[in-house]
Amino acid sequence: MDDETKEDVRPMQSKTLPIRNFEDVDSWETLMFLYNAALKEIGTKIDILNDEFQHIHRYNPIEHVKSRIKKPESIVKKLKKNGYESSIENMVKYVNDIAGIRITCSFTSDIYRIADMIAKQSDLKILALKDYMKHPKESGYQSYHMLVTVPIFLSDSVVDTKVEIQIRTVAQDFWASLEHKIYYKFEGNAPDFISEELKECAKIVAQLDAKMLSLNESIKKVEANASG
Ligand code: GTP
Ligand code: MG
Repeated sequence: MDDETKEDVRPMQSKTLPIRNFEDVDSWETLMFLYNAALKEIGTKIDILNDEFQHIHRYNPIEHVKSRIKKPESIVKKLKKNGYESSIENMVKYVNDIAGIRITCSFTSDIYRIADMIAKQSDLKILALKDYMKHPKESGYQSYHMLVTVPIFLSDSVVDTKVEIQIRTVAQDFWASLEHKIYYKFEGNAPDFISEELKECAKIVAQLDAKMLSLNESIKKVEANASG
């Protein structure tokens, strides 16, 4: 290598420290770079699972996928709510949903199938699972949450980066987005009757999901009989 090239390289190397560990990340840009990369990796994994499903079963379990990075002001708000100062260290440690991906599928059975396929991927580490279908939240909220880390392969290291995955049916998503809007409208202090009505709606959503699932099972039986 000639001297001229060496001179070009040196200042660049001294600019940023190599990233070794997720917990040691201490700059906002680096953190956002990792979260973006993590969402790309998880997004591709989900795409591939969906393609494979289509290829083998001629059936598409996923209606849509949406990913997002939490807004800086929401990160700060969450830290404050939980009694933490705004620092990069606290973000990394205590805010688990900075990188989030939401998978919306047709039937409740798809939720567990997708969760299982994700859980089986050997490069992912599962940090936490929350089954809000078996145990709905006080609000009535139902979904399946997975907190995972995905390895991000960098030039000189591999960094396991946190992503929150939410998996829900279209009906559960309908409920959650309306409830979220109402919650915001009342800044978290909705009158009791509204909270009660929303809980009632959540029960109807669960009934609808159960009914759609059993209808789908019946359709599959009819199809199997017709073809066999
Ligand atoms: P958050 O502080 O809300 O993130 O809760 P958490 O850290 O205990 O995590 P949890 O798994 O309970 O919820 C994380 C995410 O699930 C939230 O950011 C929402 O996207 C969604 N969620 C949880 N509870 C509700 C709810 O009652 N209504 C709606 N609409 N969404 C919810
Ligand atoms: Mg959240």
